[in-house]
Amino acid sequence: MTIKAVVFDAYGTLYDIQSVAAITEEAFPGYGDIVTQIWRIKQLEYTWLRSLMRRYQDFSLITRDSLAYTLRCLGLESDPGAFERIIDKYLHLDLYPDAMAALAAMRDRKLAILSNGSSGMLNTLVRNSALDRVLDATISVDTQKIFKPAPDAYRLIESTLRVPPAEVLFVSSNPWDACGAKAFGLNVAWIERVTPEAMALVCVKSDVVAPLTMFKAIRTQMDELGLEPDYRIHALSELPDLVASHEP
Ligand code: 2OP
Repeated sequence: MTIKAVVFDAYGTLYDIQSVAAITEEAFPGYGDIVTQIWRIKQLEYTWLRSLMRRYQDFSLITRDSLAYTLRCLGLESDPGAFERIIDKYLHLDLYPDAMAALAAMRDRKLAILSNGSSGMLNTLVRNSALDRVLDATISVDTQKIFKPAPDAYRLIESTLRVPPAEVLFVSSNPWDACGAKAFGLNVAWIERVTPEAMALVCVKSDVVAPLTMFKAIRTQMDELGLEPDYRIHALSELPDLVASHEP
């Protein structure tokens, strides 16, 4: 197999979406974890609902709406300043510590992001984290006005990079995204950051299931959709060797 391009999901794959937790906790002491998890769960839910309803709104608006939902359902009042400070973190998310080195080691392939994020928020995030130095393209679903895992979203890879799906390795830690990419016909490496064994241990050990544990159970374990990623890895740092074992 030839790998001409390696294309990454952004939120949760290159960028740690849990890195908003410090700012949500600072704004709402004692509620940081629950705010962080409901926010992300609702954010993705709204992308799928809006795609099904054919009522696309870009991801920056969805990110605001899902935060507003979260605060309302928890009975939390925020002043506009606190709301904006939390939202702003989405433009300054932490990169996973191994992201930059992994990308830099694969410069002999085309490197890109394909994300549900809007062009504006993605370009700012990529610049703020200096990934613009290593990426050939940052592709937003904005131009298709439908979110992953819709096939039209994944089709943007070929139309932008001019590389056919059979020669693309798509990398995501989001199981729904790995399945969507596989269903579309891309080669897929799924990053299993939380193993089932680790998951079971967390659940057994605690009397009360913490919001983060619930999130991990819902959004980090492989889905039952009858689709299998081609590769399972556990960290971005494993990618360069995997890619190097294939022709450029
Ligand atoms: C993405 O970056 C939302 O994580 C998803 O496309």
